[in-house]
Amino acid sequence: MNKKFLDLGFQPLANEYLKVFRSNQIKYKLKIYFDTVSKMVSISKRIPSKKMFNAKYPYRSSISRTMRYSFKNLSAEIKKRFKPKIILEIGSNDGALISNFDRNKVIGVEPCKNLASITKKMKYTTYDKYWNFDLARKIKRKYKSIDLIYSANTLTHISNLNDVFKSINHLLSNNGVLIIEDPSLLECIKKNSYDQFYNEHIYIFSAISLKFLLKRFNLEIFDIKSLSTHGGSLRYYIKRCINRDLPISFTVKKQLKKEIKYGLNNYSTYSLFSKRVIKSKKDLLFILSKIKQRKKRILGYGATAKAVTVLNYCNIDKKLISYFTDTTPEKINNFMPGKNIKILRYNKDILKKYDYAFLGAWNFKDEIFKKESEFIKKGGKFITHVPFPRIINK
Ligand code: TYD
Repeated sequence: MNKKFLDLGFQPLANEYLKVFRSNQIKYKLKIYFDTVSKMVSISKRIPSKKMFNAKYPYRSSISRTMRYSFKNLSAEIKKRFKPKIILEIGSNDGALISNFDRNKVIGVEPCKNLASITKKMKYTTYDKYWNFDLARKIKRKYKSIDLIYSANTLTHISNLNDVFKSINHLLSNNGVLIIEDPSLLECIKKNSYDQFYNEHIYIFSAISLKFLLKRFNLEIFDIKSLSTHGGSLRYYIKRCINRDLPISFTVKKQLKKEIKYGLNNYSTYSLFSKRVIKSKKDLLFILSKIKQRKKRILGYGATAKAVTVLNYCNIDKKLISYFTDTTPEKINNFMPGKNIKILRYNKDILKKYDYAFLGAWNFKDEIFKKESEFIKKGGKFITHVPFPRIINK
């Protein structure tokens, strides 16, 4: 049974940046549910993929040093540990992962045509199509089977998980490996990062819910790695149940145990989380308004989809945060979705005019603090809401 535990109010599409602010930008109710049987956490309202992932999609995997480094390390691991003949990436974005492989060894799937054109230009085989059974059949006709399929922060964005895994099953070789990585539900709940919920994130996986889901497709997790990316992610290594060549690592049991101990299998954990989220909103608004009463200036740092959830849930507009800054070309000079806060082009002096910076990209805190050491040295402070709203300078 699907039980609601959190209501994040009305939210715009998290990556719909507008050149001209419109107070009537379309917003959708964002409610989060827990399925007491499958233990899956998901949002209620499903927006058609075409509305979210199209030729204007602004998110770039390569934009941060942290992500480039993470993909580079993973590529080295894949080559050494699995020695695949051919790799397929679902959601290859701007090629942050596939560009680490030889062109004849890797295939990208990326429905956002603006992104697919980047890897096509780099001469990587890229299907600019949505991941579904038709596409899996088409790829199978050409390549027969794939021995390594990888997908980061993409499968949780697709509503029909049955079709997702049926298509993977169709293509994966008998001893093939599927690697997926996504934000960890345990980290999200522990860190109170309710901003992981937005329209694109239809599901937030836990090892518990993924195990339950994979069973239906005769797939199983054989290894899990914790990653610091996206505020705490899990990388799941998956194989067919019939494949006995790959031993099941202790990491799987360890993660399942951790999640059960924290209560991810119980509704009560989520209703407590929901109470903490309501308090987080109150406390963040209190901090921001106190700063504004002292006539200080606040800049939002990192125009993330996560920040869009925070702004719209807490009802923060330009009276509290004057501007945001970001390095992504597609976001610059646009407005934060749902709010009249303009995004300015990042430059190294931008923080000089501000007393505080709200960490929209709190998941890159270390990278940002290193970059902005001058601001901090001169007394500048950051504001974060994770794991609870507070002012920080280290
Ligand atoms: P991310 O946290 O991956 O976003 P989302 O919540 O949308 O999934 O995106 C990070 C954003 O922060 C991206 O728009 C780039 C921006 N950014 C900067 O502007 N400067 C920086 O130094 C870093 C690390 C990120």
